Amino acid sequence: MAIKKVGVVGCGLMGSGITQVAAQSGYDVVVSEINEDLLNKGMKMLKGPLAKSVEKGKITKEQEAAILGRIKPTTNVEDFSGCDMVIEAAVENMAIKKKVFADLDRVCPPHAVLATNTSCLSVTEVAMATKRPDHVIGTHFFNPVPVMKLLELVTTIVTSDETLKSTRAFGESLGKTVIVAKDTPAFIVNRILTPMMLEAIRVLEAGLATREDIDNGMVLGCNHPMGPLTLADFVGLDTMYFITEAMYAETKDYKFAAPLLLKRMVAAGRLGRKTGKGFYDYK
Ligand code: 3HC
Repeated sequence: MAIKKVGVVGCGLMGSGITQVAAQSGYDVVVSEINEDLLNKGMKMLKGPLAKSVEKGKITKEQEAAILGRIKPTTNVEDFSGCDMVIEAAVENMAIKKKVFADLDRVCPPHAVLATNTSCLSVTEVAMATKRPDHVIGTHFFNPVPVMKLLELVTTIVTSDETLKSTRAFGESLGKTVIVAKDTPAFIVNRILTPMMLEAIRVLEAGLATREDIDNGMVLGCNHPMGPLTLADFVGLDTMYFITEAMYAETKDYKFAAPLLLKRMVAAGRLGRKTGKGFYDYK
């Protein structure tokens, strides 16, 4: 089944990026938020990088207008009724995701693929909130979505081959390289990445090295584009904490246990770049 019209639920960091990339790739996109205020904030976040691309001469003013013209912002779930695929990029809360999927199942045409951008929750559990679990798949994008080349697809034991095939074709049409993971805690990338980032926090917590030396160690010693503490600030410490808690709850494996320092930083509202302070100061 060819995908022509795409829906995105949630216009935060990930949702706005997914919307931008899909519209840039020629798709008509409906993007929703729970209220006008969040919708306006999300659209602003999306317009920023596009305006920069015009400044840099990567796209013309006309192309920018055409991309924005393909995007329909909304607060009404009924607007997803004409979509061939809807990607949910709402908060990482299972109860909310189940409600979103039940609504999408009611509104979307029977052929539509329903995808979740969850980075750690069970896609199977989300799928069972619908009457079409075979049409449900995980589409895990990476931040910043317009820049990162990877799309990790997550299949459950009931995802159909047709759903995987059309979602893979959609991902490749966005210029992404697709990898496929089974529905296990945190899939492939976060399962490998998160323990490394948690270990960096433990090294800092134990006073074994400075934040700069930990980050320089991984940037210069392993050619990572960002050190693990800078990356944690970039992803958001609340998001990181949520991912580790979810992974630990499912596996009871110590390598996913959140260091106390991470927990305390989240409690103190030091969430990284988004609040201006995390392991580093961004003011
Ligand atoms: N939106 C659009 N474009 C962006 C952008 C954004 N938010 N941020 C940066 N860019 C673009 C810039 O415009 C620039 O484009 P150009 O080369 O055409 O001029 C290019 O990306 C490089 O940006 P900068 O020169 O400003 O900065 P850097 O070279 O330092 O790159 C970075 C920034 C791409 C963020 C790089 O540091 C990087 O790759 N960091 C690692 C990111 C990463 O690991 N992401 C995965 C996080 S884990 C995750 O998402 C999973 C989730 O489940 C938690």
